[in-house]
Amino acid sequence: MNILILGGGGREHALAWAVKQNPKCDRLIAAPGNAGIAAIAECADLDILDGAAVLAFAVENAVDFVIVGPEAPLAVGVADALRAGGILTFGPSAAAARLEASKAFTKDICDACGAPTASWARFADRAAALAHVRARGAPIVVKADGLAAGKGVVVAMTLPEAEAAIADMFGGSLGAAGAEVVIEEFMAGEEASFFVLTDGHDVLPIGTAQDHKRAGDGDVGPNTGGMGAYSPAPVLTDEIAAQALDQIIRPTIAELARRGTPYQGVLYAGLMIDQGRARLVEYNVRFGDPECQVLMMRLGAQALDLMLACAEGRLAEARVTWADDHALTVVMAAKGYPGAHEKGSAIGGLDNLPESSSQMVFHAGTTLKDGQITATGGRVLSVTARGATLAEAQARAYGMIDRIDWPQGFCRRDIGWRALK
Ligand code: AMP
Ligand code: GLY
Repeated sequence: MNILILGGGGREHALAWAVKQNPKCDRLIAAPGNAGIAAIAECADLDILDGAAVLAFAVENAVDFVIVGPEAPLAVGVADALRAGGILTFGPSAAAARLEASKAFTKDICDACGAPTASWARFADRAAALAHVRARGAPIVVKADGLAAGKGVVVAMTLPEAEAAIADMFGGSLGAAGAEVVIEEFMAGEEASFFVLTDGHDVLPIGTAQDHKRAGDGDVGPNTGGMGAYSPAPVLTDEIAAQALDQIIRPTIAELARRGTPYQGVLYAGLMIDQGRARLVEYNVRFGDPECQVLMMRLGAQALDLMLACAEGRLAEARVTWADDHALTVVMAAKGYPGAHEKGSAIGGLDNLPESSSQMVFHAGTTLKDGQITATGGRVLSVTARGATLAEAQARAYGMIDRIDWPQGFCRRDIGWRALK
C-alpha cells in the first residue's frame, strides 16, 4: 500500500522507520519530512494544515493510508477532511482532538466520566482568576485553555508566580490560547506517559514511557519539548496501568463515543502517580516526541498493522507482541535550545553509525544541504537504542552520541537516571 505520513520531526522519522519495515508498505511519502526521513521515503512539500490540499495530494498519489503525526493538523480537522474524501486515516477528528486542544474540554470530560484528575476551575476573567488563586494559595497550576506549543502551563510554587502567569495569559501573551484559563490543584508525584490505540470502542495499550522535559542534567533549567525518554516506565506498574485504563482511559473513550464524537488514533495520557494511584495530568492526541522514538524501536514493523487495525475499527482482534526489552533515546539539540540557537551547522559522524533494529539515529530538525546533513531546528537528532536492560540501552545510546561530530550541539548526559537510580 501507499502510505503518507504528515510531519517532519523525530516522531515522524520513527514512524516512517517502523512502517517502512512492514512488507505491506510499498510507497512511503512524508510531508514535509526531514533529511533522515528522505533516506527511506519520498518527501513532499505540502501544507499539512490545509485539509483540502492534503486530500488532493493523497488522491493524486493513490495514497491508501495517512498517518497524522502532530496535533496541529488534527486540531484543524485534517483527519476529518481525509476521511470525508474516502482516505483511510490514523488520527482523531477535530472534535475528539479537543482532548489536547482545550484543557477545559478535557476537564469537563473527566468530570462527566469520573476520571481522577486535579480539581479545577475555569476563568474567562482576570479578576476572578486572581481572587481564586489568592483564596487557594500556592502551589497551584495555571494553564491557558488552548494549544500553546508547550508554553501554556505554569506550575506556580508561589502566589506571585501564579499571579504573574494570570496577568500574562489574560494580557494576551499566548494569543487566543489564553483567552480562557484553567486553574488546577497542584498534584505531587512522579509523572509517566501511557499510550493506547483506540478505534473509538476498543482500547489497546501499546507502551509506557517517561521523558525528561528540562534542558539540563538533574532535571534543572528551562522546559523543553523533551530532551530524552525511555520505555517502559517502571513507575507505571501493571497494577497502576490497569487502574489508569479502568478509571481514566476507558471512561474517557466511552464518554467521547456517548457524545457522538468517538476517538480514533493514539491517545497519550500524561499521568501523575502518587501513593500507588494514577491521576490524569493531560491528554495528547498524538504520539509524544521523543516518546514515539522509544515506542517504535520496541514495536518495529507491527506498528503499521496496529495503526491499520485502529483506523479500520478492528482493534478488538489486534495483539501486540512484546519483547521483554528497554529502549532509550537521547535528544541532541542546538546549543541555546530552548532559547535562541544557531541554525545551519554541519553534523558529522552519522555515516559511521550502523543502523539496526537496536540502534537508530532519528532525525528531528535536519536538512540535506550540498550533500551535508545540516541542523535546522532546536531539537535536531534523537539517538535511540534498545537493550535487554535500561542500563544497556543507555550505554549504547551514549556510545552512539560519542561518535557524532557536532560541536554546535548538546545533549543531557543523564537520560534515564530516575529509573536507573
Ligand atoms: P501539560 O501541558 O498539562 O502536560 O502540563 C505540562 C507539565 O506541567 C506536566 O507535564 C506536569 O509536569 C506539569 N503539570 C500540569 N498540571 C499539573 C498539576 N495539576 N499538578 C502538577 N503538575 C502539573
Ligand atoms: N515529549 C512530550 C510531548 O511530546 O508532548
